[in-house]
Order: sequence, then structure tokens, then C-alpha cells
Amino acid sequence: MVDRAARDFARVGVIGLGTMGAGIVEVVARTGLDVVAVEVDHAGTARGREALEHSTARAVERGKLTPDEAAAVHARVRYATSLDAVAGCGLVVEAVPEHLELKKDIFAALDRLVGPETVLATNTSSLSVTEIAVATANPRRVVGLHFFNPAPVLSFVEVIRTVVTDEGVVSDVVELARQLGKQPVVVGDKAGFIANALLFGYLNHAVSMYETRYASREDVDAAMRLGCGLPMGPLALMDLIGLDTAYEILDTMYRQGRDRLHAPSPLIKQMVSAGLRGRKTGRGFYTYAEPGSSAVVPDALTPSASVWGAGRCGR
Ligand code: CAA
Repeated sequence: MVDRAARDFARVGVIGLGTMGAGIVEVVARTGLDVVAVEVDHAGTARGREALEHSTARAVERGKLTPDEAAAVHARVRYATSLDAVAGCGLVVEAVPEHLELKKDIFAALDRLVGPETVLATNTSSLSVTEIAVATANPRRVVGLHFFNPAPVLSFVEVIRTVVTDEGVVSDVVELARQLGKQPVVVGDKAGFIANALLFGYLNHAVSMYETRYASREDVDAAMRLGCGLPMGPLALMDLIGLDTAYEILDTMYRQGRDRLHAPSPLIKQMVSAGLRGRKTGRGFYTYAEPGSSAVVPDALTPSASVWGAGRCGR
């Protein structure tokens, strides 16, 4: 076998600083690599910077990072509002909303901007990596690199190889994922890959139980948290993922596979249209102390203390 120098991933570009993008920036910067973090406007970069500040401040409070280490993490991140800024990166990870045409446009533009050795990765949850790859002149350097929310906490990533991805690209990205402290698995380009293909039918079913008033949100979540030992219930998890993102994933999976398990429960779309997108907007299935907060506060649907007793929250 011919020895091949691994690619230089010392500088990584991240496009899109929403929930996932901001988490990916943190993972990469905490590993000691430089990051170029790109959003469409200054409001977007400010949101990304705030998310990183909030998360590192929490890590400092909990003694996981020293103030100097947190400062070094911030110093490694450069924010930009133009794609051109990633021109010198060895890897670019795209994490914009789940719209195929938007992702294809971004990949076509990146392909013209970066050098021939740069790897282009999409964090898509359910769209076809192959369709995104063929928007470029060189689909061999395109992979999926799918993180899980919260990216700084969850240690699993899926590396998606299309039928044309170069094997060297796959192995270099797997190596990088390990360097980031993740456990990578390599999978083919099938809607939902492994985890979301299993997870989203379950989440959708949970919404349907709640929507048809078969069970309250607290009872649905308690069943899976207390009865099955999961870290959080499905409706609380929908709020963490974001109902808009969950809707896009379900809709894509349904259109690709026609499995009615993935036909999005109508309530999800209604809540998205009403702005109830989960933790990020301060309201989803539950109500939160403020947008972005994980602290649930009582609302009109909270069971009364007389029935539930203090501290008996089912989430
Ligand atoms: N960013 C950074 N760190 C975070 C965090 C965040 N958003 N949320 C929690 N943490 C950290 C905390 O700081 C804490 O760290 P330390 O132990 O080092 O102090 C640790 O995570 C545990 O946090 P908490 O004690 O506050 O809360 P918890 O123990 O209840 O854990 C949780 C919270 C990690 C979110 C846990 O409930 C969990 O794992 N839930 C399931 C999440 C899940 O299933 N995600 C997959 C979603 S599907 C997906 O992402 C794919 C897709 O394509 C949409």
C-alpha cells in the first residue's frame, strides 16, 4: 500500500452557526484547531459567538475549562460573513438549514473557492449527500459528517460515504473525527443514515400520541425516561432538536421512503408555523425560561401540584 500523507485539517471552516454549527465550532476549537465560522450576516455571527461564550462560560463554571483555556478557544475562532473566508481551510463543514437547493448552491460556491485538497463535508441529517456532492466539479472530495445535538456532548458521528467519495477522504475524515473525541462510523448515503432512520419514526409517534390526547406530554416523556432509561423523553428531545429541523428531517425521509412512520404529524408543522420551534425560541412542547434556555417553566399545560406533587416532573 502506498503511504499517503494525511490532509492538513489545522484550519476548519464551519458554514452556518445555528444549533449544530455553533456546537461544531466549539468541538473543533476545543480540540485546538483554528476555525473560520461563517454566517450570512453580523446578527448570525453574533448569535454564534454568544452560543460559544455561553457554553464555554458554563464549562468554566463547572471546572471543565480554565478561564485561560476558554480564552484560547475564542481566540481560535474567526467569524466571517462571506464564504470567501474559508478559502485557506483544509476542511469545510456545512451546517445550514435542511434545504437541498441552498446546500447545493453553497457547495458549488465552495468548490470554486477552496484548493483541490480541501475536503467538503455536509452535516445534513437526511438529505442526499450524493445530490449535494454532484453540485461540485469534484464530488470525490465530498462526504457527510453528521454530528448529534448537543455536539460538544455526544460522542457519536456518522461519516457518510457516497458511491464516488474518495477512500482517502473518508479515512482522513474518520481520523479527524477521532481527533475531535468522537466515535465515527462510516455509512452509505441512505436517508436518515443509522441514527435518524431509527429515531425519527419514534419521535413522530410520540407527537402523534400527544396530538391525539392519548397521553400528556409529561406522561409520554416519563414513559421513555423513567420506563426505558433514556436521558430525555421524546417531546423534550424534539424541543432540543428544534421542531423546524425535525419537520424537515421527517418530511425528507417520508418523501424518500414513503414509510408512513415518517409522515410528519400535522401538529409539528402547525407549531413551527406558530413560531413554537422548541428551546431556541423559548417554546415548543414545553415552555422555557427564555429562548435558548434548557430550564422548563410551568405553563397552562403543566399538571397541577395537587395531582403531581412537588418535583414530579415527567420530562
Ligand atoms: N452544549 C454544551 N454542553 C452541554 C449542552 C450544550 N447544549 N447541554 C449539556 N451540556 C453538557 C453539560 O455542561 C454537562 O457537562 P459536564 O457533565 O461536563 O458538566 C453535560 O452536558 C450534562 O448536562 P446537564 O447535567 O445539564 O444535563 P443532562 O445530564 O440532563 O444532559 C443532555 C443533557 C446531554 C442533552 C442529555 O439529556 C442527552 O444526551 N439527551 C439526549 C440527546 C439526544 O438524543 N440527541 C440526539 C438528537 S438527534 C440529532 O442530533 C440528530 C439530528 O440530525 C437532529
